Amino acid sequence: MATSDAILQVLSGAGPCVFSSNPCFRSSDLTFSSKLHIKCVKKRASRCTKMFKCSNVLQNGIGNHWFKGLGDRDLSVNATIKKLHLLRCKGPQAERVSGVTDGGNGAWFVDGAKSLNLNGVVTGEQTDGFRVRDAQQLTREKEGFASNGALNQEKEHLETNGAVGTGRDASPKVSVDPIEEEAWELLRDSMVYYCGSPIGTIAANDPTSSSVLNYDQVFIRDFIPSGIAFLLKGEYDIVRNFLLHTLQLQSWEKTMDCHSPGQGLMPASFKVRTVRLDGDDDSATEEVLDPDFGEAAIGRVAPVDSGLWWIILLRAYGKCSGDLSLQGRIDVQTGIKMILRLCLADGFDMFPTLLVTDGSCMIDRRMGIHGHPLEIQALFYSALLCAREMLAPEDGSADLIRALNNRLVALSFHIREYYWIDLRKLNEIYRYKTEEYSYDAVNKFNIYPDQVSPWLVEWMPNQGGYLIGNLQPAHMDFRFFSLGNIWSIVSGLATRDQSNAILDFIEAKWSDLIADMPLKICYPALEGQEWQIITGSDPKNTPWSYHNGGSWPTLLWQLTAACIKMNRPEIAARAVEVAEKRISRDKWPEYYDTKKARFIGKQAHLFQTWSIAGYLVAKLLLADPSAARMLVTDEDPELVSAFSCMIGTNPRRKRGQKNSKKAFMV
Ligand code: GLC
Repeated sequence: MATSDAILQVLSGAGPCVFSSNPCFRSSDLTFSSKLHIKCVKKRASRCTKMFKCSNVLQNGIGNHWFKGLGDRDLSVNATIKKLHLLRCKGPQAERVSGVTDGGNGAWFVDGAKSLNLNGVVTGEQTDGFRVRDAQQLTREKEGFASNGALNQEKEHLETNGAVGTGRDASPKVSVDPIEEEAWELLRDSMVYYCGSPIGTIAANDPTSSSVLNYDQVFIRDFIPSGIAFLLKGEYDIVRNFLLHTLQLQSWEKTMDCHSPGQGLMPASFKVRTVRLDGDDDSATEEVLDPDFGEAAIGRVAPVDSGLWWIILLRAYGKCSGDLSLQGRIDVQTGIKMILRLCLADGFDMFPTLLVTDGSCMIDRRMGIHGHPLEIQALFYSALLCAREMLAPEDGSADLIRALNNRLVALSFHIREYYWIDLRKLNEIYRYKTEEYSYDAVNKFNIYPDQVSPWLVEWMPNQGGYLIGNLQPAHMDFRFFSLGNIWSIVSGLATRDQSNAILDFIEAKWSDLIADMPLKICYPALEGQEWQIITGSDPKNTPWSYHNGGSWPTLLWQLTAACIKMNRPEIAARAVEVAEKRISRDKWPEYYDTKKARFIGKQAHLFQTWSIAGYLVAKLLLADPSAARMLVTDEDPELVSAFSCMIGTNPRRKRGQKNSKKAFMV
């Protein structure tokens, strides 16, 4: 949507806009005063850091909030922000999700029915999961999940074929397993409040840790499993608050050494700071949100994944709560478009994949994943699909939607064709000719066969395959990255056959990837000279530790969603059982070290929130596999036909020069 459109709509009162995050309000002549503001806040904040968890103060009704960098942007914007926050300060009641129970059945059911019939997710026998034995078995239960009393919606329950009953929890009801109970307690303890309302969860709540670093902040990516857990429990407020507040942060004025990144960038994390107010009354304080876009993060890494996760969570929120009004708001629509514009902006790239620096995702340190890492591509694809579902049709966004559709097709083609390896493909690469100058080169990226290293030849099983970690000119990163592969299944970036083959691969490599604790973040570790050169001799990322081949329990929830989608939940249930043997006893570590994940990670934080939430989401999804629908996306038939059209023009098969630049109007 064009900026002017947004303004017009706000001014004319069209739409329920409370706050516009429009980038055009940003103006260089406002920089001076907003910088002063930042400085002022920072100075105070440094004195007040210890007062972090003092959200109770807010209940005294302090309704004056600073919005760093936004503050001077526009008076009317500030006024609306204040309005928003005064509303919030009325307490959780005022923020209840409206429309959840609209019509008695809520949009969840309507939406569910739509996906049953239109998206092909669950139609009779076919599907990738959620297979319905009989339409009559759709039992619409009154779920007793209600927390806050906000939720008494009717929710359909889909009985799945074999999906339930393979784990320890055969019952679709939420179990009261003691580990789960403990996890819920810990998750609630990690909640962060702003203005009296829950707004997120801190990364780790480890009382024994001497170096907190930034683990006392709310990380966008870390909150996703927390948010999903709360959604599954029917506690929608915290997710809604998180989505709206991070949306405001998106428009912050952010700079690093006088350079500003793109406007749609979402922070990696934020902190709620309590600062003292000027004036006579020494006890008067107020709270500020203090985001980190990478300008303070170790290594100054820009969190490319944050905005993508935000879109994915927004869709999940709508699907689960039935509150579609949130995604329809003008400020939210603008936020989605800002992220998309940033990702879809033209650059120098020849590839449809997103070009990023090292450390731009879950692996937020130098690990040799700069370029086109799979994790980012899977999240990108997923966010594009989710955004397409949520974008309100309007003239102003036709170009954006066209660009989005074209990118979806090109991206899926590129990944499926060029990132995929299995034994057959590996053998093909092993026999590649190099230095081919032509339009129809087989070895397009000029990969030297020597890159097929001995470990890979040994490691590749006869059955199964996976998507490689990265592809660049003359470079294939053959490491297996779990999140990228798993999210390619969840999002449908991988084909159905590829998705099944990835799960086959995980099963075949169980002792390497799951071992004593799920799940290896990547395999194998960088060792020796490779470790020295690629990580810069990073002492935190030593071989088989942390990002370099460490094992991360949080990845359980994504694995579970992927397994459920492919109707193979027993794989996830097995992995959960492995985790349950020790995760609580070990105090919910952030990660595990050694080849077989036998040790708690060298510098792992304990009571790491996303380890806790990841476990909970895995359990909840296994207990009610139909709920995974809020995470899963499937290709629609139009995309499939555009894709086959694209295959037809693939020069590897037959070069059709005339069609090669065709724009696919999906
Ligand atoms: C580490 C992880 C990152 C995570 C953060 C907070 O830096 O690499 O993915 O978001 O810790 O838990």
